[in-house]
Amino acid sequence: MCECGCTQPAEDVQKERELETLFESWRGVKGSLIPILQGAQAIYGYLPREVLLQIARETGIPPSRVFGVATFYAQFHLSPRGRNIVRVCLGTACHVRGGARIFERVQQELEIGNNETTPDLRFTLETVACLGCCGLSPVIMVNDDTHGRLAPDKLKDILVNYQ
Ligand code: FES
Repeated sequence: MCECGCTQPAEDVQKERELETLFESWRGVKGSLIPILQGAQAIYGYLPREVLLQIARETGIPPSRVFGVATFYAQFHLSPRGRNIVRVCLGTACHVRGGARIFERVQQELEIGNNETTPDLRFTLETVACLGCCGLSPVIMVNDDTHGRLAPDKLKDILVNYQ
């Protein structure tokens, strides 16, 4: 709980303080919308609707523009992301070596589809066009870890390591 005795969780209060500091550091600076969005996403892990509205209020930028920018760039996420990001490569080299079967099995294991997050926020699943290590195809990345020369049967043992 918050130290002032209200019912707001302390973690939420801390995030609000960080957001206020972020607004202060960019107040009056031209072209600050993207860095503010990046900073807010770093605080919350994604960009909640209420935070986007708060950004609009604090910066004086119309909400339609704030939402427009947040939805335009792939780097911004408007819904919660998992603690572990699984990226399955569906690029050409991975495709010819069974990338689609890998993707299918990951979806089965996690019980989610592309760009979805498990209800417990453990995993978010994404596909990418190339992970830059085609020699290891088929490849997935979990967070910063590369797993190459995969077979569908190996996936369960890999994913269990990420909580
Ligand atoms: S195509 Fe998959 S890593 Fe390049």
